[in-house]
This record gives sequence, C-alpha cells and structure tokens, in this order.
Amino acid sequence: MQIVLCESADHVGARAADIIEARVRQGPAVLGLATGGSPRSTYQELIRRHREEQLSFSQVTGFTLDEYAGLPPEHGQSYYSTIRREFVDQVDLPLERLFTPQGDASDLVAEADRYEAAIAAGGGVDIQILGIGANGHIGFNEPTSSLASRTRVKTLAGATRADNARFFPDGDVPRLCLTQGLGTIRDAKLAVLVAMDENKAAAVQAMVEGPVSAHCPASVLQLHRRAVVILDPGAASRL
Ligand code: GLP
Repeated sequence: MQIVLCESADHVGARAADIIEARVRQGPAVLGLATGGSPRSTYQELIRRHREEQLSFSQVTGFTLDEYAGLPPEHGQSYYSTIRREFVDQVDLPLERLFTPQGDASDLVAEADRYEAAIAAGGGVDIQILGIGANGHIGFNEPTSSLASRTRVKTLAGATRADNARFFPDGDVPRLCLTQGLGTIRDAKLAVLVAMDENKAAAVQAMVEGPVSAHCPASVLQLHRRAVVILDPGAASRL
C-alpha cells in the first residue's frame, strides 16, 4: 500500500487524476467509478483536463462500484444518475459503456451475479477509484463483509443510512444496496483510494495500521497488489 500525503483536498484530487490520466492516455481503459464526496475533486480535475488539455475518455469503459436497491436508474439519487451528473456527462465517455448494477431489477441476486460477470467480461477493472466511509466501508461493503466477497446484495449499516440521509429529504433512505465485493475490488489491477477530512482519520488509521479485518473492510487493501491511498492532512492526522 502506497500512502501519498497531500497538503489539501484539491491536491488529493490532482494526484488521483494524474494516475488516472496516465492510464487513460495509454489507450482503452476500464475505470471503476466510486460516488460520494471524496472522489468529487478527482472528477472535477479530470473534467478540467478534458476541457483544457484534450484528455479524452472516448476509449474508457466505466463500472460503478455500487447502487442503491429499489431506485430506478433515473432517480436523482441513484448512483447511475450521480456519476452521470458529476463526471460522465461532462466528458466524452460513451454512455453505452457506462455500467451500473440495476437497482430496480426484479431479481437482485441475479442482477448482482450478472454485474459481476459483466466486469469480468469487460476484462476486469484497470483502476478502481475508491472513497472510504467513516466506519471503514468501501463501496457498500459494511463492517463484517467477507474479504472474499463478490458483487452482492447488502443491507446498509444504520450509520451509513444516517450519513447519506442528507441526500434523501423525504427521509426514505434505501435499506438495501448492490455493491461490488471486497474480492471484486481486490481484482482491480490498481486501486486508488482518496480520503479527506478528520472525520475519516480513524477509518484511515484502521485501514493502514490496523489488522486486516472484516471489521474495517478497507483494510483489505493491505492485501492488494497495487493500492495507492491519497490523503489530505485531516484524513492522515492519526497516522
Ligand atoms: C458511500 C459510498 C462509498 C463512499 C462512502 C463515503 O456511502 N457507497 O462509495 O466511498 O460512502 O462517502 P463520502 O466520500 O461522501 O464521505
């Protein structure tokens, strides 16, 4: 695990964008796309480079990390809508090559298996972009998730539902989700995790310095063949 300490959240986004740009400029690439506040500065920097520095995503395929169950793709808070709004629709990544688990599938178990197979059929993920939850989750792999898990249906932890309640003003926060598993994430050729702010410091410490444990799902990155963790001073403050 390589730890990169940055002086600000903007620098975190720029460093992550450097890694992604280098791979995208090489030719066809598969990106694993996380949602949430953490990767926002990375996407903003990639959008800027697309507009100002001819960085093209026309040969990129995107697989989102997770999705709320029960939400149709067009719901404003689905991760499909979110990643389109915050990244895909602002660059030239072809929409037909953006893939998300279908949150409103009638058979969620079958949908999880289909999504896992689609990632494999796409040749696997070249760079998986990740944030980290305050409880150490990655994707929606909540504490006690199996370190070998594949894409599956999960119940959201109460703490995660409370964290994300701000996006659901009607109070109707989904209870279930589909998420790539920790085993799926481990298969990515490179994992880039970005974290900012002091409220992530305890989770970052457990991920980097704690034991590899299902109680801190992000600690599975200690077993990853190539993981880069990019932190601002707040997120790094307990290391
Ligand atoms: C969300 C997402 C994760 C994200 C995490 C942290 O619930 N499923 O992919 O990394 O929680 O979110 P944020 O970056 O907004 O703090």
